[in-house]
Amino acid sequence: MAPVPYVVPLVDSTAVFKPEIFKGKVLFCTGGGSGICRGMTEAVMRHGADAVIIGRKLDRLTQAAKELSDTTGRTCIPAQGDVRDPKTLRDAVTKTIEKFGRIDFVICGAAGNFLAPIAGLSENAFRTVLEIDTIGTYNTIKATIAHVRASKGSYIHVSATLHYNGTPFQAHVSAAKAGVDALSAVLAVEEGPHGVRSNVIAPGPIDGTEGMERLSVKGVADKQFAYPSGRAGHVKDIANATIFLFSDAASYITGQVLPVDGGSEHMRGTM
Ligand code: HXC
Repeated sequence: MAPVPYVVPLVDSTAVFKPEIFKGKVLFCTGGGSGICRGMTEAVMRHGADAVIIGRKLDRLTQAAKELSDTTGRTCIPAQGDVRDPKTLRDAVTKTIEKFGRIDFVICGAAGNFLAPIAGLSENAFRTVLEIDTIGTYNTIKATIAHVRASKGSYIHVSATLHYNGTPFQAHVSAAKAGVDALSAVLAVEEGPHGVRSNVIAPGPIDGTEGMERLSVKGVADKQFAYPSGRAGHVKDIANATIFLFSDAASYITGQVLPVDGGSEHMRGTM
């Protein structure tokens, strides 16, 4: 009989880290209205921070901000913006400062993705994803850096693992996320002397997200080997890494890329 595979437990960050570690801190999160970034925002708020979530769809953002506030007992406000438009980010920063007076943490999470072969991808389609993911990250850094310097704060950029290899139908996202990783490294080196840290989280296959459909282990029959940790990732796994990286426990960690994928990346090419 085959051994029963071990399944790593899924815990809440509040079971590991003190609930109030981010009390008085303020998070600025692009893409925070849905998916992984919403989960990251909720976790940071559960540890005491207030938050501003930035996205294009005001209805969805407003609803998400209300739910995040209700769930965590902290304050989350929506700021409509498109990371491709620096003015909307500057406006979101102004709104954040008017409301909360500071920015401690920034999550650069807004992203675009779809499957398309490189030979079929239009020039505009390729450019669009680079504009959202890479230039959007630059725009977010530019709009927030003065405030993050002032608070000696920290950035987390949401990237991916797909550009470590040649992932089919993901030329645009691969190029874009490689650029994001590079921006974070430069930010860490340039801003370290100002007390600012910058790291990347590279999620692996995360259940229930749009990206899950596009990940490397798709189609691998034996989930025991596709997921060395016994299960696909959960948004909470990314949230837990976020709490650690923003916490003082990670104060000597900057310029790093942290894959949070249960070991899946190491299975590439072996199945
Ligand atoms: C080919 C496509 C396409 C598709 C859009 N385009 N969808 N090409 N296949 N499925 C092309 C369009 O035809 C157009 O090119 C160009 O891309 C721009 O499209 P628009 O719709 O005008 O742009 P916009 O409205 O700004 O939408 C941006 C978007 C959209 C990226 C295309 O999907 C979006 O906003 N997505 C945000 C939500 C999202 O994708 N989240 C998932 C993130 S997951 P032409 O030539 O016709 O003008 C993630 C995980 C990464 O990032 C890791 C995964 C493994």
